[in-house]
Amino acid sequence: MPEPTPTDPHWFKEAVLYELYVRAFQDSNGDGHGDLRGVIERLDYLRDLGVDVLWLLPISPSPLRDDGYDVADFMNVDGRYGDLDDFRALLAAAHDRGLKVITDLVLNHTSSDHPWFQASRARSAGKDDWYVWSDDPGRYAGTRVIFTDSEDSNWTFDEVRGQYYWHRFFGHQPDLNYDNPDVREEMKRVLRFWLELGIDGFRLDAIPYLFEREGTNNENIAETHAFLKEIRALVDEIRPHAFLLGEVNQWPEDTLPYFGDGRDEMPLLFHFPVMPRMFQAVAQGRVDAIRWILERTPAIPETCGWVVFLRNHDELTLEMVTDEERAFMYERYAPEHRMRINVGIRRRLAPLLDGERGRIEVLHSMLMTLPGTPILYYGDEIGMGDDLSLPDRNGVRTPMQWDASPGAGFTTAAEPFAPVIAEGPYAAALVNVAAQERDPESLLWWMRRLVAQRKLHPALGRGAFELLDAPDPALAVFLNTYEGDVVVAVHNLAETPRSGELPIPRLAGRTLRLVFGGRSCAPAPVGTECDGRALPVALGAHGFAWWSSVPHAEER
Ligand code: GLC
Repeated sequence: MPEPTPTDPHWFKEAVLYELYVRAFQDSNGDGHGDLRGVIERLDYLRDLGVDVLWLLPISPSPLRDDGYDVADFMNVDGRYGDLDDFRALLAAAHDRGLKVITDLVLNHTSSDHPWFQASRARSAGKDDWYVWSDDPGRYAGTRVIFTDSEDSNWTFDEVRGQYYWHRFFGHQPDLNYDNPDVREEMKRVLRFWLELGIDGFRLDAIPYLFEREGTNNENIAETHAFLKEIRALVDEIRPHAFLLGEVNQWPEDTLPYFGDGRDEMPLLFHFPVMPRMFQAVAQGRVDAIRWILERTPAIPETCGWVVFLRNHDELTLEMVTDEERAFMYERYAPEHRMRINVGIRRRLAPLLDGERGRIEVLHSMLMTLPGTPILYYGDEIGMGDDLSLPDRNGVRTPMQWDASPGAGFTTAAEPFAPVIAEGPYAAALVNVAAQERDPESLLWWMRRLVAQRKLHPALGRGAFELLDAPDPALAVFLNTYEGDVVVAVHNLAETPRSGELPIPRLAGRTLRLVFGGRSCAPAPVGTECDGRALPVALGAHGFAWWSSVPHAEER
């Protein structure tokens, strides 16, 4: 069995993540809900896709009013998904295949169904101030509301206790009171529990909001950082080099402090603001938006990394863009009002891009060659669609489409927890894994090649990154260098072909070889060589090409 704890402390930089919703992935017992045994059944598929780390949305018992981000018992598995033994079995089966498994850990809040909240609202001794209670809903007035479509205040009045409680998300998700040392100790116990069970790490949900302080916006408080440092120390003690990823949806300069000194806080953080700008750049046919945000991204400690993504289980967030950019994004990507939610867009990748393969490919090529560890969101590797008739963000969390059968190979139940997409161009009968397995030109096979290419080059992930100047603003040219490995990835963001020579004087004398290219690019057959000084560019609409100085493995 491969060693689940790698000795290489920075292994995560070369990893590719796959985010999946257990409830929607594979139902093994016919009850209409995906479960952990179902994930086990699909591990070979995930291994063949080439991903390294599986990120499971929360799996603990929950009333599922926020798909598990409303936790009712931190140290257990929701009965619909299985039990702790199933989770142990998943870990073992994943490790056998060289895969790692992490889940969300929701530190900031619980479900209002959690026994702690029930005890606290009843003022039970010991639990009285486990949550943030107040007589005055005017407290902490400088705090923004995050779920703007469903909440108009961060306070909700509790009839039982006769006081208001604080919540940064839904009203049924009361925030824990981190000023209480018992809360801090208990959440550390939760962390220890999962680590000792053998989990490979966590995605730490909503970490900027743990502590509140009057007169601030209640984000990024010093005490929050101090507690996260305690968490890092605990993780290092039990499972050094775990995959620890923090969710901080903020500007890069505000996110930076969460890396700490590079060793004492978060090793990995999402780069949220680069995401909408990749979509913006493709819509505008210009690289400027990406350049703008990368120039505003400070250098980070070498021991740390960004995590990048195109889509996830939430809305495509437009919080970290200007008003003008947001208006542009809504007009281009969410023309109908029902496509919008909170400050974002509730659509999946393929429909956002009108199902156009070229756009899907060029965005994924950028995802794999920008600085950071990339995440794929389940179903996007086959170009699944969304169901806008479902409320909230549920439209992007529909059952995985494995085959053309009525339950899409996801379930045998007549009524799955959410309907399988059955109509239109993204219906399971048309878009499914089985059909794409049979077609070497399918998106699925292309994604497998993309992931494999990414992993051949340590420069992608570990390398120093530079956005090169190109004479044509439609070209996004990314240079990644790591020791002897050089990868130049050229992307044509425009809807029209681009050709010419791309001068890169500093690569003069290096022989570069074309190792990968989009099907809309036909600059030369893969394997063509050139002098790095002048790259021949002949890219079709949304074409891309990766040039590398590293010989193919068989020639080394
Ligand atoms: C995070 C999750 C989101 C959830 C929220 C509240 O932002 O990504 O899905 O609703 O936290 O827990």
